[in-house]
Amino acid sequence: MEKITVTTPLLPPLEELTPYLEDIWNRKWLTNNGYYHQLLEKELCKYLDVKYISLFSNGTLALITALQALELQGEIITTPYSFVATSHAIVLNNLKPVFVDIDPNTYNLDPKKIEEAITDKTSAILPVHVYGTPCDNEAIQKIANKHNLKVIYDAAHAFGVKKDGVSILNWGDLSILSFHATKAYSTIEGGAIICHTPEMKKKLDQLKNFGYESETEIPMLGSNAKVNEIQAAYGLASLKYIDNAIASRKRSAELYRKELSNIKGISCLDIQDDVKLNYSYFPIIVNSKEYGESRDCLYFRLRDNNILSRRYFHPLITDFDFYKNHDYKKYDLSISKKTSDNVICLPMHHNLTENNINFIIEIIKGSLK
Ligand SMILES: Cc1ncc(COP(=O)(O)O)c(C=O)c1O
Repeated sequence: MEKITVTTPLLPPLEELTPYLEDIWNRKWLTNNGYYHQLLEKELCKYLDVKYISLFSNGTLALITALQALELQGEIITTPYSFVATSHAIVLNNLKPVFVDIDPNTYNLDPKKIEEAITDKTSAILPVHVYGTPCDNEAIQKIANKHNLKVIYDAAHAFGVKKDGVSILNWGDLSILSFHATKAYSTIEGGAIICHTPEMKKKLDQLKNFGYESETEIPMLGSNAKVNEIQAAYGLASLKYIDNAIASRKRSAELYRKELSNIKGISCLDIQDDVKLNYSYFPIIVNSKEYGESRDCLYFRLRDNNILSRRYFHPLITDFDFYKNHDYKKYDLSISKKTSDNVICLPMHHNLTENNINFIIEIIKGSLK
């Protein structure tokens, strides 16, 4: 039986990558802000409709560096309903995560619950556009302005997402992207920070290159998070295919929604009218009482039928040993917990066929066991 994977990488045609590789071989310049690195930054600014972008070797280092660049202190308000890199980046900066619950309709940090978590130690808010659904930026930014806090968006899932025709990557002080192979757009491993000023762009470029200002000057502590020429070329070759890939994901999402709407106990994420999504993920919530089977039973039944879905995000960040063993502040996280206990991300990628989806639906319906 054919395996239906939860995702598949957006591979550019090999023959289109080869000329880039030949040119890189001729140039003999493999990393350190090379020709293709610069070109990809330029092309991504155009494609994403953002002013400044700094490429990183992965989304986690982008997030760590974004927090470092803003010179934050004390406590950062964030969500437990995310990939663990979100809060790891806080802790790796010697800052303290403060976990606040999510909105049941978007699964994003709930702005209504942020203010009660603000103390005189709070320096920033780190929300996540979960599954690419935009956060309530207006409400979050209003709170941030009132309390003089920075906002850093973990936009790892939000490549190309727009609200009212404007890129949501322009929100907040900084936004980060992940270009991991599992993401809608990838550079195999990779990531980026989007910022608003040339001064911040310069600082981010220095921070990802050991803090170098010039050959003999290092005014700040920096890591090594540079992107090599081969990955940048891969990113350029893939960029041509991203619109078609997203269109294909959209068709799959629409088919899933139509077919799942008749299955009792299965619900899909709400969609907002004014948002252009990238269809990165297809999460469903299993209401076991109505559906007649638990989320985990469905997950394993799908797996027994060679359908690889993912309990994403499960466990909650706050349920991992590291976070349980540290005394980080947590507010009532009941909605995050309920979501994490009942969510499944179904297979979603640009190569998914109608037959694949129909088969997945039959398994969920229970008509094939
Ligand atoms: C929400 C979120 N933040 C951060 C990251 C980290 O990105 P990367 O895997 O590129 O380090 C991921 C990656 O899966 C993610 O999903």
